[in-house]
Amino acid sequence: MRILAIETSCDETSAAVVEKDLNQHITVLSNITATSMALHAKTGGIIPEEAAREQIKFILPAITSALLKSEQIKHSSTEKNFTIANEILKEKIDAIAVTYGPGLIGPLLVGVETAKTLAYSLNKPIIPVNHLLAHIFANFIQNTQHQIPNTETAFPFIGLIVSGGHTDLLLFKSLTDYKWLGGTLDDAAGEALDKIGRLLKLSYPAGPEIEERAAKVRDTNIKFKSPVINSGNFDFSFSGLKSEVARYVEKNNLTEGLINEVCYATQKAIVDVLVKKTVRASKLYNVKTILLGGGVSANAVLFDQLKYSIASEKPPIEIFAPQRTYSTDNAAMIGAFALLNYKPVVWQKITALPELYFD
Ligand code: KG4
Ligand code: ZN
Repeated sequence: MRILAIETSCDETSAAVVEKDLNQHITVLSNITATSMALHAKTGGIIPEEAAREQIKFILPAITSALLKSEQIKHSSTEKNFTIANEILKEKIDAIAVTYGPGLIGPLLVGVETAKTLAYSLNKPIIPVNHLLAHIFANFIQNTQHQIPNTETAFPFIGLIVSGGHTDLLLFKSLTDYKWLGGTLDDAAGEALDKIGRLLKLSYPAGPEIEERAAKVRDTNIKFKSPVINSGNFDFSFSGLKSEVARYVEKNNLTEGLINEVCYATQKAIVDVLVKKTVRASKLYNVKTILLGGGVSANAVLFDQLKYSIASEKPPIEIFAPQRTYSTDNAAMIGAFALLNYKPVVWQKITALPELYFD
């Protein structure tokens, strides 16, 4: 089965063609992502209306490119490209998947309405996808760089979603049966990194630069609290960390070296609590596997520390993170989710839901 997937929940416009074979293997034939990040970097954050206007600009070229690339056809004139893409859509694509939430309403509407129009006009099944769950399913995409979890034997597993908008722990008993264990009470982990990055005048989004700068530090006396680390539940809270860093920045003259130390202490505070609660959930529910997802899952310190913390568990717990291309927002993960949870609905039933969470 082959799916055209569309993701427009925030500042990325992404279209992908993704296929599942009889062995449940998910292969990405194309994954095209245009981003309006540079525009938002100037203001240090996303202005929703601007992000929506950018989505309108990119959506049809992204879909066209994804369809052409899936058949390894080179671009020619715009009109010819559209004609060929239309043919591919008609002949080679079995269904359309689209992110319907959560996210920004304007950007979501662009993807949802485009997908609905294509599904209606070409009479294709359409599958609405929860962006958050798709971040975890990015792990099931075939990977040339490292091993991936098995769709049949990985269960039960803990999913940790750590992105710019969300921090959530979930227990998956099967591909379709999951339970939410806890999440952030305020800012998400990535959001905290980005806000702290702004205080330190770093690039946006700040996660990669914070990781890079932290790697230059061996030790520091700076210590920031890991919020709610000792609470007995699976909640997280990161807004206090941002205030703590803000107070430190106000009181100290920041040199390059000190900025690196602040990055180190910030990353440590966030990673420590993510690791502690993920390990606790994994032991409590006797899981076989931990799957990370979302932009912050690209952080090597988070992955390595988690791996280290579960290294002596018996029976062993395996840990996976998606390939970097599929850890930040992308349409391939939307396709992967739809292929493993194939639940088409009538197009009239799909509405963009900015506040969508877990059902
Ligand atoms: O999943 P994502 O692309 O977008 C949302 O759905 O929110 O996540 C973006 C977030 C940003 O906050 C960014 O700073 C963070 O992921 N991020 C990282 C790294 N790469 C991206 N955080 C820590 N370390 C990284 N290497
Ligand atoms: Zn995301």
